[in-house]
Amino acid sequence: MSFAGRMSYGDYLGLDKILGAQHPKSDAHDEMLFIIQHQTAELWMKLALHEMSAARDAIAAGRLQPAFKMLSRVARIMEQLNSAWDVLRTMTPSEYTQFREALGESSGFQSYQYRMIEFVAGNRNTAMLGPHEHRPDLVEMLRAELTRPSLYDVVLTRLRNAGFDVPARSQLDQPHQPDPKASAAWASVYREPERYWELYELAEKLVDFEDYFRRWRFNHVTTVERVIGFKRGSGGTSGVSYLRRMLEVVLFPDLWEMRTEL
Ligand code: HEM
Repeated sequence: MSFAGRMSYGDYLGLDKILGAQHPKSDAHDEMLFIIQHQTAELWMKLALHEMSAARDAIAAGRLQPAFKMLSRVARIMEQLNSAWDVLRTMTPSEYTQFREALGESSGFQSYQYRMIEFVAGNRNTAMLGPHEHRPDLVEMLRAELTRPSLYDVVLTRLRNAGFDVPARSQLDQPHQPDPKASAAWASVYREPERYWELYELAEKLVDFEDYFRRWRFNHVTTVERVIGFKRGSGGTSGVSYLRRMLEVVLFPDLWEMRTEL
């Protein structure tokens, strides 16, 4: 049973680092929940990004089947993150207040992985680089992403390759705006799924992802209201009203608009 000189479970998983990375700043019992909730979310986001960038490469290379599998996994990860709110919701406002001051100005608003997920999907906004200015390495990484075609850009290329008249975007650092030509192309795909099965399946994978992502945003804002009411956020925004505005974000507008036309 001795692992001297051999790789153990803990060695392989780097558990000393992961399990040694919880450093509550107060004596409040619930701060451990708060830290682990965020850390596990960040780990899942890391996997989501791993899958999303591989899915983007696969789509760009025309390998849609492997991309479907990866995108399904991303939607499942979002669902996992959605279920996780149930654990955090066991924390009351009284309990959060006991360590709120200890957080200082730190906030999920500064989650660079979350911003990266949005940027990869296509919700791009250079103003969101602001919270990372103190970390030039992160700004550079996020900026580099804004120069690459988004996941949805490579999907549009597939539409074009299938013969649809869909223009390529010139400004990659902007969010996707509804494009009537792309909506019309998707409508054709949905009217004849048998003919365009792969594109049809691809579109549904994206809608699935966005659907789960919307639920995450909704769960977040509801949990935030439950815990801090309408207080300002630790990251400096108006809090719940900022997060409610974020509920209006649409990652893939063509795919939603097209549904009205069918
Ligand atoms: C009691 C728990 C929580 C509270 C009170 C809370 C509060 C807030 C508030 C008020 C904001 C707006 C920015 C600000 O002014 O700070 C925000 C943003 C954010 N939070 Fe939370 N949050 C909580 C839990 C979480 C968890 C568990 C995650 C998971 C990683 C998370 C991720 C984020 C992200 C990614 C943003 C940026 C959203 C965007 O800009 O669209 N939050 N949070």
